[in-house]
Amino acid sequence: MLDWREWFSAGSGIDRVQGFITPRSVRAIRSILEHQDRVSVGGSIAEIGTFRGKTFIGLAAATRDGERVVGIDIFPDDVQQSLINSAREVLSEDQLKRIILAKRDSSSLEFFEWARLMGEKARFVHVDGNHTNLAVRYDIMLAASHMAKGGVVLIDDFLHDWYPDVTEGIIEALKVIPNIAPVAVIPRSGKLLNGGTKLLCVERSAIEDYRNLMISEFSELRPRRIMLAGATVTAFMNAD
Ligand SMILES: C[S@@+](CC[C@H](N)C(=O)[O-])C[C@H]1O[C@@H](n2cnc3c(N)ncnc32)[C@H](O)[C@@H]1O
Repeated sequence: MLDWREWFSAGSGIDRVQGFITPRSVRAIRSILEHQDRVSVGGSIAEIGTFRGKTFIGLAAATRDGERVVGIDIFPDDVQQSLINSAREVLSEDQLKRIILAKRDSSSLEFFEWARLMGEKARFVHVDGNHTNLAVRYDIMLAASHMAKGGVVLIDDFLHDWYPDVTEGIIEALKVIPNIAPVAVIPRSGKLLNGGTKLLCVERSAIEDYRNLMISEFSELRPRRIMLAGATVTAFMNAD
């Protein structure tokens, strides 16, 4: 059985799978999952835009008995098969059974279909699918529509140089979604092409818990409180 902490560690399986996630984002994900274990936040996990599974396999490993992990992607070419092959190399039979893959354009998923795929409300959704204003807005709405108490939506490519429309879509969505709020901007580390900055959004009852978690995780970075999409958000000085 793969320990998710092992997957989300430098030099582990995650480095063998092609994809997009920076070392600082890996730290943020580890920290969130550790927190959810510590305070017993339960629920499903999902990723919209799995690509070859670089992040998804670690998320699958983080599921507990009775939980499921849902991967949505349009899966062009051999992408789905390569994810499955990599997952089979490292995950146990029990972990593999918790995986549900849907070859779908996420914008075509109705809210009831999302809820049916997820089963339990979500404790962690990673939004990293179609990179347009409209698509990201819809993906965030889907994620928030079936969210557990204490759950998070982690959105990729916030403030991305190449996708400024994604940033606009994220802010527009967060202004109108009532049950989640942006809490922290996780600056990317390393090259832009290896992965972008992420925006951590949290179910509203747990905002300060996750803010303190990120400030503590990134204690080497100077934090600053700003207002974004009507919420108080912690930004960090990125010295990279
Ligand atoms: C940047 S990659 C995701 C990277 C991945 N999260 C990782 O950790 O490496 C974006 C993915 O979104 C998928 N995608 C693009 N449009 C989509 C859509 N409309 N619905 C679902 N997935 C989509 C692409 O096929 C691609 O695999």
